[in-house]
Amino acid sequence: MGSGLSIYTAVQSFAMKCFPFHYGEKKEEQKSMQSISVLSNSSTYPVGDIGKSGSELNSQGASDISTDSLRGTSFPSLSQRPSNLRVFTVSELKSATKNFSRSVMIGEGGFGCVYKGLIKSVEEPSRRIEIAVKQLGRRGVQGHKEWVTEVNVLGIVEHPNLVKLVGYCADNDERGIQRLLIYEYMPNRSVEHHLSKRTETPLPWSRRLKIAQDAARGLTYLHEEMDFQIIFRDFKSSNILLDGEWNAKLSDFGLARLGPSEGLTHVSTAVVGTLGYAAPEYIQTGRLTSKSDVWGYGVFLYELITGRRPIDKNRPKGEQKLLQWIRPHLSDGKKFLQILDPRLERRDMFKSSHKLAAIANRCLVKNPKNRPKMSEVLEMINRIVESSATESPQLSLTDLASTEASQDSEVKHKKRIMHLKLAENNWFLKIWRRKQVRTS
Ligand SMILES: Nc1ncnc2c1ncn2[C@@H]1O[C@H](COP(=O)(O)OP(=O)(O)OP(=O)(O)O)[C@@H](O)[C@H]1O
Ligand SMILES: [Mg+2]
Repeated sequence: MGSGLSIYTAVQSFAMKCFPFHYGEKKEEQKSMQSISVLSNSSTYPVGDIGKSGSELNSQGASDISTDSLRGTSFPSLSQRPSNLRVFTVSELKSATKNFSRSVMIGEGGFGCVYKGLIKSVEEPSRRIEIAVKQLGRRGVQGHKEWVTEVNVLGIVEHPNLVKLVGYCADNDERGIQRLLIYEYMPNRSVEHHLSKRTETPLPWSRRLKIAQDAARGLTYLHEEMDFQIIFRDFKSSNILLDGEWNAKLSDFGLARLGPSEGLTHVSTAVVGTLGYAAPEYIQTGRLTSKSDVWGYGVFLYELITGRRPIDKNRPKGEQKLLQWIRPHLSDGKKFLQILDPRLERRDMFKSSHKLAAIANRCLVKNPKNRPKMSEVLEMINRIVESSATESPQLSLTDLASTEASQDSEVKHKKRIMHLKLAENNWFLKIWRRKQVRTS
């Protein structure tokens, strides 16, 4: 059941009609609107408060999307496209989620709480479909903007590696306006969840490679496969969700942005995104290109390799920033072994993790122009996935045992290094030695 109006018109008219006059925040919102126009005229922005968690490097400065969305300049061509989004009422969603019961709550992010729900299929009313319902918890202009952008973007894109938006709700109940987003349910949760220490079973290496491939497909589609470009801007492991067959899909398009118009090299925006993933030139200048996503993808590859978070305040000082910590470990194969996720069998990942690190290094080149396009990254990942399916481990089981007991004896030590030297890709090290990554 699609909306009669185009999605953009529906969302925009909702925004115009309702937004400034509810929640009793009129003054504050008007103030925000003023600051928006100032921000959107400026070409560079100061780095925001990077001490925050969640998606915001600078929540106030994130206004450019909203302004554009509300004015209709951010995704102009998108509104023309047909949208199959369902429009839900609050009462439908209440009955789908046991009245937003905590018992069906599956997560909480910067946008608000997420609940699991069940709805009837439109095509076959006897069939029930599982959904995830995201309830906008954050008051104020920023949360609203992200809601509008998410509906605008996800209403028109379609790809197996992007989470499907089933519909949305912008409805009144006794508490005022409710703004919700309804997605396909992703039963295997986020990649971040599986990489965290909380999970008992670590993600197997082959699955990590497939996730890297799926995520690269999703980004390639956004950057290069439509008649307009979308920059995701918030690429990170918590925004990569896994379906029942462990296919990875990108979610959370609230910060997405149209790429530069023809003839322009970048878009100037406020700096938003997540600390640890944002590209250095974007943080410094606010100049956004698709290569900012490529940087975030490179960080993510190292997350898959190491099982560590890009920034982890619970680790010792020298290990808190992932990119800083790994750097000295890339000079030789023995040291490289030390950064591999200790929960995984090294023999399964030995060779392909080197290759994946080599791709990560190319994504993490300081000059964005020298980073590969996502389609090039995808090609490289495809080759790794193909060869890892057939490759035999480089190390024998005996060698692996010695690898695990790394400090055992000098002799074993040397033997292992010899094997590693044979196995490592020279190009990987060469790339790294150019010292392209600056992490401080
Ligand atoms: N479509 C979905 N299906 C299943 N679970 C989901 C879905 N969308 C979100 N979730 C769950 O809800 C959690 C919170 O998601 P949300 O996107 O709101 O926050 P986040 O990604 O953790 O942080 P941020 O707000 O910084 O993006 C996710 O980690 C995930 O476990
Ligand atoms: Mg998210």
